[in-house]
Amino acid sequence: MTGGSTLVVGSGLIGTGIARCLARAGEPVTLVSRRPPAIPPDSYGARWAALDATDGRDCRRLLSRLRPERVVLVHGPSDVTWCEAHPDEALAAHVAVADTFATAMPDARLVMISTDNVFDGRSARHTENTPPAPANAYGRAKLAAERALLAKAPRSVILRVSLVYGHEPADADKWLNFFAACAHRLRRGEPVEAPDDHWTTPVLLDDVAEVTAALLHARHPLPPVLHLGGPDRVTRAEWAATIARALGAPARLVTPVPRARTRYASRPVNACLASEVLPALPGIGSIAVRGVREGVRLLASDFTGTAPPLP
Ligand SMILES: NC(=O)c1ccc[n+]([C@@H]2O[C@H](COP(=O)([O-])OP(=O)(O)OC[C@H]3O[C@@H](n4cnc5c(N)ncnc54)[C@H](OP(=O)(O)O)[C@@H]3O)[C@@H](O)[C@H]2O)c1
Repeated sequence: MTGGSTLVVGSGLIGTGIARCLARAGEPVTLVSRRPPAIPPDSYGARWAALDATDGRDCRRLLSRLRPERVVLVHGPSDVTWCEAHPDEALAAHVAVADTFATAMPDARLVMISTDNVFDGRSARHTENTPPAPANAYGRAKLAAERALLAKAPRSVILRVSLVYGHEPADADKWLNFFAACAHRLRRGEPVEAPDDHWTTPVLLDDVAEVTAALLHARHPLPPVLHLGGPDRVTRAEWAATIARALGAPARLVTPVPRARTRYASRPVNACLASEVLPALPGIGSIAVRGVREGVRLLASDFTGTAPPLP
């Protein structure tokens, strides 16, 4: 690892996963968000500070105090439905934060976590060479932020990730990822409805964190845009069935439904990412990106006490 510290802007599901991974490797990490994160960062060796990243003056003040060498932009607004109802606010917030950090640190390695929603989902497979065509207001905001960052900070990397999943505790106020929501409901014997016409390439949070850490520390030049999806292309209904099997929950609890009837109606039909570049990057392409059966098996041990064998 190179020296200096990393600032993680956003302390939600992915920000916390990345901060944990960096702190585990002994790196000084500070997370920022407007409210304290659900998991106290000092429990895994990181620090937290309050910041509204849309406030440029507060960002500059924080940067001159912390002097981080690297920054990960992994903040909200991330709720697709909220962004659809507030498109101007979503766009302004994402662009403002990208512009502030790119202006303040034009020569630094800044990594922005972006999304498959920059594509309309007509193609089953989106690579770094697929022309963006945002599916919704959230995708438009993220694409504009990508461009704002790269315009002023050319060493930056946009890491577009597919649907991210990881562990969340049963008593969380609200579950932030599909896996956790499904798994906790199924464990309680509750039914789960999931679209059988919404395709994703789910990617394990730990794998996103490991790739992000490697990008932050890469000494060689990197492409400006990289894609990270899991190796399996599945519908949410198929994925929910995989989760049920891993937990030993009855298959009948999972009901496939049309996407149009669910909260995923404004998402692209194919929320799938593939990379033509990442596998060839030295020190990064060798990171194992796990498929859904292995990812779910690893996480299922949090529910069952032991990891069951792969079916
Ligand atoms: N989850 C996924 O599957 C996925 C997939 C692709 C891309 N992404 C991208 O990854 C990023 C993070 O996703 P996530 O799932 O970790 O989201 P999340 O759990 O909703 O976390 C978002 C974090 O950003 C913070 N935040 C929001 N507005 C802020 C502001 N103005 N200043 C400082 N912090 C702010 C939030 O805390 P406060 O509200 O307290 O400030 C929260 O800590 C998003 O940009 C999203 O586009 C996520």
